[in-house]
Amino acid sequence: MARAPLVDGHGRRIGDLRVSVTDRCNFRCQYCMPAEGLPWLERDDVLSFEEIARLVRLFAELGVEAVRLTGGEPLVRRDFPALAAMLAAVPGLADLSLTTNGYLLERDAEALVAAGISRFNVSIDSLQRDRFFRMTRRDALPRVLAGLEALARFPEAHPIKVNAVALRGFTEDEVLPFARFAREHPYEVRFIEFMPLDADHAWTPEDVLTGEEVRAAIHAVYPLEPEPREPSATARVHRFADGKGRIGFINPVSEPFCDDCNRVRLTADGKLRTCLFSLGETDLRAPLRAGASDDDVETVIRDAVWRKELKHRVNDPGFVQPARSMSAIGG
Ligand code: 5AD
Ligand code: SF4
Repeated sequence: MARAPLVDGHGRRIGDLRVSVTDRCNFRCQYCMPAEGLPWLERDDVLSFEEIARLVRLFAELGVEAVRLTGGEPLVRRDFPALAAMLAAVPGLADLSLTTNGYLLERDAEALVAAGISRFNVSIDSLQRDRFFRMTRRDALPRVLAGLEALARFPEAHPIKVNAVALRGFTEDEVLPFARFAREHPYEVRFIEFMPLDADHAWTPEDVLTGEEVRAAIHAVYPLEPEPREPSATARVHRFADGKGRIGFINPVSEPFCDDCNRVRLTADGKLRTCLFSLGETDLRAPLRAGASDDDVETVIRDAVWRKELKHRVNDPGFVQPARSMSAIGG
């Protein structure tokens, strides 16, 4: 059934849904989770595969073409590839992608590709084992790299992106190794500015190593040329001038890209978030479980999306960090 496109009150059409399938994670990245983990959601509070698929179908009818699956760590959800296959079959979805920490990719790469996931982001913050351990609190770099290689063996999985969060005082030493990594492998490395979404609420503006600083450091050694920005893209992509690969910069703090943001998020417990930094959220699980029709749920979604924030306030005085951390929101 055709439904009118989903638009917000600022005239932005919503075409991209990020779905967190679990709040659990097998890593404890410094910028996301405390060492001891977080109180996980109760199993019954988490949307079932059927509930997720119903909502994704409805969003697709409302014009959402791209769905990204995230967590927590999505691959720790039992039978995750079966969920991916259900979603890949939703009519109207042109693009089903996954963000993962890579720890379980050796086990799952084949099943994920077979399920129909077409684009993959693997998070890697350091290419040195001890520093990877320091950042994620897991000694898992060899295993993650093996997972990445397992995935790269499937031509359908490409292009593969490798995401590194850029933190001042840490990432400076990673910049050139990652540039070489992007030049030598078929991966697009993307640096993401550290955002105030850490569970410890320890973020300060000084901790942000900006994309421009990283770009300049790379450009000094391996000259870069900017590529045109795609509409609603989060990354500013540059190619190496000698043709050896590409590198991207996601600069939400220093160069916000809210103006043409086309994204909304669904948490693992069925809350709709219209911005990473939303202080409020809209419960879709309750109406779903109370027997609401698709038309009823559509009304709830439309109303929430209409009130989507114009922009984030990270750089404004009085900014308030959301209570949920990245792992509970979905990246
Ligand atoms: N700032 C920026 N990126 C973050 N991520 C998690 N927490 C933060 C944060 N505070 C990233 C992860 C992963 C994606 C889901 O979000 O590294 O790449
Ligand atoms: Fe887990 Fe991702 Fe958070 Fe790291 S950033 S703790 S991998 S959810």
